[in-house]
Amino acid sequence: MGHSQPENALRLLPRLAPPRVSGIIAVPGVFPTADRTHPANHDFDRSAARHCLTRVYQPYRFQVPDRYCESQIPPTSREPHRQKGSTVVVLVVGGAGYIGSHAARALKRAGHSAIIYDNLSSGYEILANGFELIRGDVLDHSKLALALQGVDAVMHFAAHAYVGESVVNPRKYFRNNVEGGLSLLNAAVEAGVKKIIFSSTCAVYGEPSKIPITEKTDRQPVNPYGVSKLFFEQALEAYDRAYGLRYASLRYFNAAGADDSGEIGELHNPETHLIPLALQAAAGTGPEIQIFGSDYPTPDGTCVRDYVHVNDLAAAHVKALEHLQAGNDSFAANLGTGQGHSVQEVISAVEEVTSNAVPRRLGPRRPGDPPALIADPSRAETLLHWKAQRTLRETVSTAWNWMKRKP
Ligand SMILES: NC(=O)c1ccc[n+]([C@@H]2O[C@H](COP(=O)([O-])OP(=O)(O)OC[C@H]3O[C@@H](n4cnc5c(N)ncnc54)[C@H](O)[C@@H]3O)[C@@H](O)[C@H]2O)c1
Repeated sequence: MGHSQPENALRLLPRLAPPRVSGIIAVPGVFPTADRTHPANHDFDRSAARHCLTRVYQPYRFQVPDRYCESQIPPTSREPHRQKGSTVVVLVVGGAGYIGSHAARALKRAGHSAIIYDNLSSGYEILANGFELIRGDVLDHSKLALALQGVDAVMHFAAHAYVGESVVNPRKYFRNNVEGGLSLLNAAVEAGVKKIIFSSTCAVYGEPSKIPITEKTDRQPVNPYGVSKLFFEQALEAYDRAYGLRYASLRYFNAAGADDSGEIGELHNPETHLIPLALQAAAGTGPEIQIFGSDYPTPDGTCVRDYVHVNDLAAAHVKALEHLQAGNDSFAANLGTGQGHSVQEVISAVEEVTSNAVPRRLGPRRPGDPPALIADPSRAETLLHWKAQRTLRETVSTAWNWMKRKP
C-alpha cells in the first residue's frame, strides 16, 4: 500500500537529517505518490533524498551525506567559498574552457566567489587552477542540484561551438546545447537560483544585411549551432516571464587574446580561430593558414570580423552579474569592439607582434561566411557602462604571450 506524500517525506528524514538541522518542515508534493522509498529502490531513494533536502533544507544550506549520492562533491557548505567581503557566489558552468576560465578569474578579482562546473569535454584542468572544480555534465541533473546549493547566480559557458561540426552532426549540438542547457536551467530554477548569464553569440543573427549589428537585428541563425543558441535565448525569455528568472544573453563576436598573466589562454582542439592559427603558422608550429576568399566586398577583399579581447568579455560578465544583482531587468547585449578587422589585417598584426612572416594560401570562399560581422556594442555601453578596451594589436600580443608559455 502506498504512503501519502508527506508520510514518504517524513519516513526518509530520520535517516537523512544531520545533527545540526534544528527543525523539519514537511513539504507536501515533494515526492511522487507511489511508494518507492523502500531501501531496495536505491535510485529513487537517492534522488528523492536530494530533492527533499534541497526543498526542505535549502535555508540550512546543508549537503546530502556522501553515502546518499554518487556525486564526488565534498560535503562542505558553500559558505567557506565566499571570499571575505564578496557578495555573490557564482557557479561557472564550462569554467574550465577558454572564456569561462577568464570569467572565473575576473569574478575572483572583483571580489566574488567562483566555483567551476565542467565535464572537461573541451576544457582543461589547468585552466581551472585555483578554483574548486566540480567535474560534472550539464545533463546530470542530480549533480547540478548539489552543485547549485548555496549559489547565487550561474554563468553558462558550457556548449559545443564548432559551426561546421554542427552542420554535419546537429544531434550532438541539440543534445548538449539545448537539452543540456535546459537541464541546467531547470536545476537552477529548482534550486532557487534566479540569475543566469548566458554565452550567446553573433551566430544568432545569421547573415545580417546591415552592419553594424544591433540587438534589434532579426535573429535568423543559418546553422544548427546558431539555432541551438537562439533556442536557449528564447528559453531564458520564457523562464523570465514565467518564473521571474533574470538573465543576460551576452552575444559575443570573435573572442580572442589571453589573460595578461600568461597563465591561461585559448586552448581549443581542434583550433579553428584565426589568431591562434596565424600565431602557430608564424611560430612554425602549425601549417600555413588558408584565407577563405579574397573577393569579398571589403577594403582588401578578405572577411571582416570584430575581435574582442577575452578579458573584456570577462569584465562584461562581471558587470552583467552586478547589473542583475542590483535588481535590473533581463537583457541581451552584443559584446564586441564595434571595429572590424579583415583577415589580412589580423595577419599583419600577427607578423608585427611575432616579427615572423605568416605562411598563407589564398583559397575559395567558405559557404555561409558573411563578408563582415561587426557589433554595435552601444547597448552594453549604456546598460553596463562597459566598453572593450584592448586594440587588435594588444589582443594578438596577449595571445602570443600565452602561446609561448602554454603547456
Ligand atoms: N570562442 C568564441 O569566439 C565564442 C564566440 C561566441 C560564443 N561563444 C560561446 O562561448 C562559450 C564558451 O566558448 P569557449 O570558446 O570558451 O569554448 P570552450 O570549449 O573552451 O569551453 C566550453 C567549456 O564547456 C565545457 N562543457 C561543454 N559541454 C559540457 C557539458 N555537457 N557539461 C559540462 N561542461 C561542458 C567544456 O568542457 C569546456 O570547458 C560557448 O558557449 C560558445 O558557444 C564563444
